[in-house]
Amino acid sequence: MTTRRPMIAGNWKMHKTCPEAEDTARALVGQLTGKEEAEIMIAPPATALVPVSRIIGDTPVQLGAQNLFWENQGAYTGEVSGPMLVSAGCRYVIIGHSERRQYFGETDEGVNKKIKAAVAAGLVPVICIGESETERDGGKTFSVLDKQMEKGLEGLSEDQFSQAVMAYEPVWAIGTGRSATPEQAQEVHAHVRQFLEKRFGAQTAGAARILYGGSVKPANTAELMALPDIDGALVGGASLKPETFAEIIHYKR
Ligand code: PGA
Repeated sequence: MTTRRPMIAGNWKMHKTCPEAEDTARALVGQLTGKEEAEIMIAPPATALVPVSRIIGDTPVQLGAQNLFWENQGAYTGEVSGPMLVSAGCRYVIIGHSERRQYFGETDEGVNKKIKAAVAAGLVPVICIGESETERDGGKTFSVLDKQMEKGLEGLSEDQFSQAVMAYEPVWAIGTGRSATPEQAQEVHAHVRQFLEKRFGAQTAGAARILYGGSVKPANTAELMALPDIDGALVGGASLKPETFAEIIHYKR
């Protein structure tokens, strides 16, 4: 059996000015023992990437961005490219978050281009998928996720996918306080891994980390992380306070 290193990632969304982000990052580093089992990632807003990267420096905390554009440079006002994120200190980039799909018209085709651009730039994509409440109630969860993965991962080689992280985030669980039950989450994660196995083979699927996201908090982290196909958490609201996020990171204690 493949051992997958767990990952706890914090998505700060559109929160925190530069000084606030620096304070949070400093406080988070102060909460760590250096013996954390999980890989830790935080994704501050774009303006705070550089100042936060200076603070987390060579600590175990990795830096991620919340989005990128697929071209490397050019006349694309307001966009930020993969090489720019690398130069700001990023190792990860979240792609296809449901808020980007919902509010900014992000499509599976766009997600696909962004994943390829991220990999080409040497970034690790954290690829978000998830169904809405209506889709779940209509029994369409698996077909929705399959379409997101088919189109999102189209044309990607096993080698290109090998470092990628998947994140299952049911839209109805994001920011609602209503997390998926461990059974619901495990069922979907196992399905995602089966999809990856058909697409990329058993070895790559077995090594791929699949994070759960949607109202993760200190009180529900351990039971989610105990499930065989859940390899980590993508945390929104509960990642904004360093003490709370540190509790999630230390879910085993
Ligand atoms: P939440 O957000 O933890 O606030 O529900 C998760 C996410 O959107 O990544």
